[in-house]
Amino acid sequence: MSFSPSLSGFSTRLIAWQRAYGRHALPWQGTRDPYRIWLSEIMLQQTQVATVIPYYARFLERFPNLKALAGAKVEDVMALWSGLGYYARARNLHRAAHRVMEGHGGQFPSTAAALAELPGIGRSTAAAIAAFASNERAAILDGNVKRVLCRAFGIEGFPGERAVEERLWALAETLLPEKTEDTGIYIQAQMDLGATVCTRVRPVCEACPLASQCVARATGRTTELPAARARKTPPRRATRMAVVIQGNNVLLERRPGAGIWGGLLALPEIPEGIQVKTWAMRNLGIVQVDAQALPPLVHAFTHFTLEIAPWRIDLPSAPRMLSEPAWQWLALGQIGSAALPTPVRGILDTCRTQLLR
Ligand code: ADE
Repeated sequence: MSFSPSLSGFSTRLIAWQRAYGRHALPWQGTRDPYRIWLSEIMLQQTQVATVIPYYARFLERFPNLKALAGAKVEDVMALWSGLGYYARARNLHRAAHRVMEGHGGQFPSTAAALAELPGIGRSTAAAIAAFASNERAAILDGNVKRVLCRAFGIEGFPGERAVEERLWALAETLLPEKTEDTGIYIQAQMDLGATVCTRVRPVCEACPLASQCVARATGRTTELPAARARKTPPRRATRMAVVIQGNNVLLERRPGAGIWGGLLALPEIPEGIQVKTWAMRNLGIVQVDAQALPPLVHAFTHFTLEIAPWRIDLPSAPRMLSEPAWQWLALGQIGSAALPTPVRGILDTCRTQLLR
């Protein structure tokens, strides 16, 4: 692609935007206390700002510092977390408080590397705490930042995939502002942009400082980037197929041109919600029905998996007319040369001996 977003202008634009339009009065802003910053970042890992605010206030009132938290019973910590969800966060918080008391003499570590050793603090959270508390020049990469980068730079692939994530981390490092003292505002800018402008649905591109250099915007792909997780298992569909035999003939249906098996000869499908015998009586004009389940099979299409349950129905004599215009008889001896979809050929082949009996 010839369109190439500028790396150097990226942080400058974001920082200027944050000063003018970013959030400046959140309860965890305006402090350098790593305990308070840490607590906010943990609460904000999986929870929205508006929900976090009252919990944050209550928590700090009860446990105003690391020592208070480390001295608390874990049940009391959990009780204050109750309703926030993802309770492993609270247990890790308590554990980390003990670790800092015991392993760091009660002094919260100041580097991202040391922070990332504590329970519940991943690479991105460690960088955010180190940047906000001590201006360390470290990159973050949370869900919001991944979305911004994937769109701005047109990065393909699911961001949770290892290779894509590594590429995003490298990019995030490259984009850090030159001046260490700008790291905090730059990180806040990324969080604010992701939360208020470059949102998951309906991003407000008109208000975005990166709009003029955004690949997703230039190519009309803001709804496609970042890419969704590749589906692990395709959806399954189930169908019943009728193997109607009369003499040496099998009943087949010419499929419509569009859709699966377009134009091929396939077995008639028995619609959902009707018994095989009822279907046979209605469509084949017979009163006495002998229906036998044949071994089922599974066929994989690109976008779904089809489970086929074939039912053999023997007709003593040929019906006077066929109820469906797309139906026709095929001599069993001609199966080899007919235009049949693979699973239909499979069903007929496996049953051939039985059918020719
Ligand atoms: N999400 C994660 N960290 C945040 C912060 N410091 N401010 C706002 N939202 C956040």
